[in-house]
Amino acid sequence: MTTSTAPAGMDAAETQIKNLERDYLLQNYSRYPLVLRRGRGCWLWDVNGKKYLDWISGIGVNALGHAHPRIVRVIREQAALLVHCSNLYYHEFQGPLAKRIAETSGLQRCFFANSGTEAMEGALKIVKAHGNRTAPGKTEILSLENSFHGRTLGALAVTGQPKYRTDFEPLLPGVKFVPPNDEAALEAAVSDNTAGIVIEGIQGEGGIYPLAGSYIRRARDLADRYNALLVFDEIQCGVGRPGTHYSYQLLDPPVLPDVMVAAKPLACGLPLGVIAANEKAASAIGPGMHGSTFGGGPLACRVALEFFDILDELLPAIRRVGAYFRDRLEDLGKRYGFVKEVRGRGLMLGIELTMPGKQLVLDAMAEGLLINCTHDVVLRFLPPYIITEKEVDKGVRILKKLFNRISVAGAAL
Ligand SMILES: Cc1ncc(COP(=O)(O)O)c(C=O)c1O
Repeated sequence: MTTSTAPAGMDAAETQIKNLERDYLLQNYSRYPLVLRRGRGCWLWDVNGKKYLDWISGIGVNALGHAHPRIVRVIREQAALLVHCSNLYYHEFQGPLAKRIAETSGLQRCFFANSGTEAMEGALKIVKAHGNRTAPGKTEILSLENSFHGRTLGALAVTGQPKYRTDFEPLLPGVKFVPPNDEAALEAAVSDNTAGIVIEGIQGEGGIYPLAGSYIRRARDLADRYNALLVFDEIQCGVGRPGTHYSYQLLDPPVLPDVMVAAKPLACGLPLGVIAANEKAASAIGPGMHGSTFGGGPLACRVALEFFDILDELLPAIRRVGAYFRDRLEDLGKRYGFVKEVRGRGLMLGIELTMPGKQLVLDAMAEGLLINCTHDVVLRFLPPYIITEKEVDKGVRILKKLFNRISVAGAAL
C-alpha cells in the first residue's frame, strides 16, 4: 500500500481526495486537476470556492444545469417515497415515461437501462435476434468509422475507433465499418446478411461530425431493402441537444429509425438509458430475453418525466441560443488561423483546431470555463440547455483571451 503525503502549497483536503483515488481506484481516468463541490444553473464551484462556467455539463448529462429547482423538488419527494423496486413489480412512472418517449420519438416500445452503453447492448441484442429469426447467416452489423457507442464489449465491437478497441480484441464477430457520408461504401457493404446498421446522427466523441441528410436517407433505404434494422445512437446527439427531441428529426422530412438509444440527459444526472423500438424491431424480443435489475426505477423515471415537461418549454431556446452560440464561435474562428472549422447543431458544438486542444482545456479551466477536447484537436461544447446568450458571451470572451495568447506566442516564435 502507498502512503500519501500532501505536497507543500497544495490544499490538504484536495490532495487527500486525489491521493485516495490514486491509491484505491483503477487508474483508467486521467482527470483534470479539479475537485468539484456544488453547482447552480450553468455554474460550478470547486472545493476552494472558485467558480466555473459549465460548457460541458458532465459530458452532455446536466441538461438542466445544476440544482434545477423542479428537479431538486422531484428528487426530494420521490426519494422519500420509493427509490427502487426492481422490474418484478409495476410502479407509477415507467409506463408514463415510455409513452412520453414513444410520442416524442415515433417509436412505440421502450426498454429502460442505466447508461448509454447498456442501452446500446440491448439494441444490439434486438438486431441479433431480428437477424436470427429472419434468416440463417443474417448476423452482420454495419457501423461507421470514427463512431463511438460505449465501453461494454458489444458497444465496443461497433465503435469505429481502434484506440478504444485494440486492447480488448477479439470483439463481437460480424461487424463491418464503413466511412461516414460515403453512400457508395455503405451500399457496397450491405447485403442480405446485414441484420442492422448503427449510426450517430452527429458523431460526438469522434469530433462533432454531423452526418449528411442524404446519407441518413440512403441508410434508411438500404435497411429497408435488405430487411436490416436501422439503429440510431442518440446518446450524445439527441434528447433535445440538437434543438429537436432527436437528431433524426432535424431532417425534413424526418427519417425514422427502427431502434433508437438514448441516455445522458434523460434523468438530469441520475443514471437512465432507454431503447425505443418500432413494433417490428420490438417483436424480436420475447419474455425472458432481456432485463435489468436497476433499469427504469421510480426515482430516475419520475425525474425524466419532469425533464421532458421542461424540455418542451426549452426546445425553442436551445435552437435560438444554439444558433447564437455557433455564430459567436464562427466570428471567433475567423480571426485565428489555427481554427480549422466550427461544427455542430443546437447545443452540440465543436471547434476543430490545427493543433492539440488539451492545453487549451486546462487554460480555460484556470480562467473559469469548463470545456473538453475530443479526438485530440476538437474543443467540444455541450452546455446545459438553460444556457443564456450572456453566458455564451462570457465563455467566448475567455476563449478569445486564450486564442489571443496563442497568437501572440506564435508571433513571438
Ligand atoms: C454516442 C454515444 N454512444 C454511447 C455512449 C456511451 O454512453 P455511457 O457512457 O452512458 O455508457 C456515449 C458516451 O459518451 C456516446 O457519446
